Amino acid sequence: MLRYISKILYVVTGKKKNLLLMVFVFISVSLLDTIGIGLIGPFMSLATSPEVIAQKQWLNSLYIYWGFQSPYQFISALGICVILIFYVKSYLNFLMQGYIFKFSLNQWGKLVERLLKAYLAADYTFHLQRNTSSILQILLVETGHFSNSILIPLLVSISNATVLLFLLGLLAWTSLPATIAVLGIILLTFLISNLFKDRMSRWNQEGSEAQNLLIQAVNHSMGGIKETKVIGCESYFERQIAQHTKTYANLIGSVLVFGNLPRILIEAFLITFLIGFTSIFLFSGQEPQKLISVLSVFAIASIRMLPAASALLGSTTTVRSYQYIVDKLYLDLKEAEVEKKETLSKVHVYQNDNVAKPLELNQRALDFSRQITLDQVSYTYPGATSPSVQDISLIVEKGQAIALIGKSGAGKTTLVDIILGLLQPQSGSIEVDGVSVYKDLRQWQNLIGYIPQSIFLMDDTVERNIAFGVPDGQIHATRLRQAIEAAQLSQLISELPEGLQTKLGERGVRLSGGQRQRIGIARALYHEREILVLDEATAALDNETEQLVNDSIKALSGTKTLIIIAHRLSTVEHCDRIYQMEKGTIVKEGSYKEVVLNESSIV
Ligand SMILES: Nc1ncnc2c1ncn2[C@@H]1O[C@H](COP(=O)(O)OP(=O)(O)O)[C@@H](O)[C@H]1O
Ligand SMILES: [Mg+2]
Repeated sequence: MLRYISKILYVVTGKKKNLLLMVFVFISVSLLDTIGIGLIGPFMSLATSPEVIAQKQWLNSLYIYWGFQSPYQFISALGICVILIFYVKSYLNFLMQGYIFKFSLNQWGKLVERLLKAYLAADYTFHLQRNTSSILQILLVETGHFSNSILIPLLVSISNATVLLFLLGLLAWTSLPATIAVLGIILLTFLISNLFKDRMSRWNQEGSEAQNLLIQAVNHSMGGIKETKVIGCESYFERQIAQHTKTYANLIGSVLVFGNLPRILIEAFLITFLIGFTSIFLFSGQEPQKLISVLSVFAIASIRMLPAASALLGSTTTVRSYQYIVDKLYLDLKEAEVEKKETLSKVHVYQNDNVAKPLELNQRALDFSRQITLDQVSYTYPGATSPSVQDISLIVEKGQAIALIGKSGAGKTTLVDIILGLLQPQSGSIEVDGVSVYKDLRQWQNLIGYIPQSIFLMDDTVERNIAFGVPDGQIHATRLRQAIEAAQLSQLISELPEGLQTKLGERGVRLSGGQRQRIGIARALYHEREILVLDEATAALDNETEQLVNDSIKALSGTKTLIIIAHRLSTVEHCDRIYQMEKGTIVKEGSYKEVVLNESSIV
């Protein structure tokens, strides 16, 4: 349990001092609560038998001190005190509840922010092993559970526990047998609901898995809507979704039902006890009048104490059953940081904080005036048995265009991902003008523009898609125009209904393949990067469109340094140097003539 609490505290963002302060406020409010309830008893007994004032020394002195004219005045004054205490207590209670809710929901927001930051900062390898549905679920659903089903119940529990403790003290002072009876009821309820704790935890966890599968199924059905429609497999996804929602509903339904168990049990036990107690009392021939005083103690207990107890038991059960969420959040927050440090410490001597920093923090790029050198670079994917890239050495001169060719699976994309700084090689070095890129990965990445086979497009305007990640006010108009021209997009944009402000649709559904690729090129050009990396950027295009895209690429050679992975050999004809890869190694290198046409360079 302590480990659990410490994990919760790790997930909570900000100063933990506030929490201590809150506990202090809880205790004060509970104390007030107890005093108020504690005064009801004397008020009642005074109201029914005012002669007590004269009998009790302290009441009498109070009576004289305040100069009351009649016992009824005194009783009314006492009543007003009780009322005032209750009003103050209720008001404080209201404020406290509000604070708990605000605090917990604020924590939710901070948690989402923190997790998103961790996921964005996490290594690319972390994302290779994670499903986006699970990240979506954690960010949008589980974080909500953390605040609503863990933090709020936990904080409310603390306040309920203090009320309970004080009232138990008060009860023990008035009637010890009644205290033992109440404690017995609470203990019995606790023991019974404890029987279900593992089951509830399992239901919750399985429910969350079902929910993840549900998100995945929705993703799959909508993500491949074209295929789904043409193949006609809508019912396949419908069945999947129906199955997952049913599982989820059953599991979470059970959790909700059993979460209410303490309240139901306490009610039943209380009634059993009251009726049983009264019957035994009467049967044993005692005076019914005496019964009243015992029962009034129970009335107090059942008004305030047992509700507090049932809420306390209910929320502890809920909090415990959500333990898996805290584990998940804790792991993800930790993993994202720790994994990063580990991989970095494996590479080279630059072990300190050379984590890629977000763009706006560091716009500077490494100096690049001569060449990029890869020396003996090897990379094995996590969990893979053999390296996907092995002992690769190559040199790219500034302004040159090099091409990587080879069969699918040869390791071209892996090599390019290493160059992009997405994957960190287990051995070897990458240097720019003699300086390791790992000295400052962000500055190295600031040199590179990347154009993959399928360009990621946002459902947003052309302008925002080209100036990807740049806030509206900071989009540079001239650079935008130049990028559009160089990528041969001017005509297309002039034909669009709203020009640069036309929305492209999700993943760019309103564009053709070649148009999407050219947006990708314009994006790389807008960011004015020295080195352009193209991974099969034209592979999916028909010959004619490819020609168009190739023309835009060719226009760049000489001004930019190009690293091109090409599927069709025609694309690489103009490249200065060609590397042919096979099974993770370079098997042939030289000019187009040497490698592709197989002509010897020696004339
Ligand atoms: N995330 C991954 N985890 C494990 N192995 C991978 C992963 N990605 C690629 N591979 C393996 O690495 C090898 C090289 O793949 P890749 O670089 O994509 O080849 P290419 O781009 O030349 O077609 C392949 O054998 C592939 O199965
Ligand atoms: Mg590839």
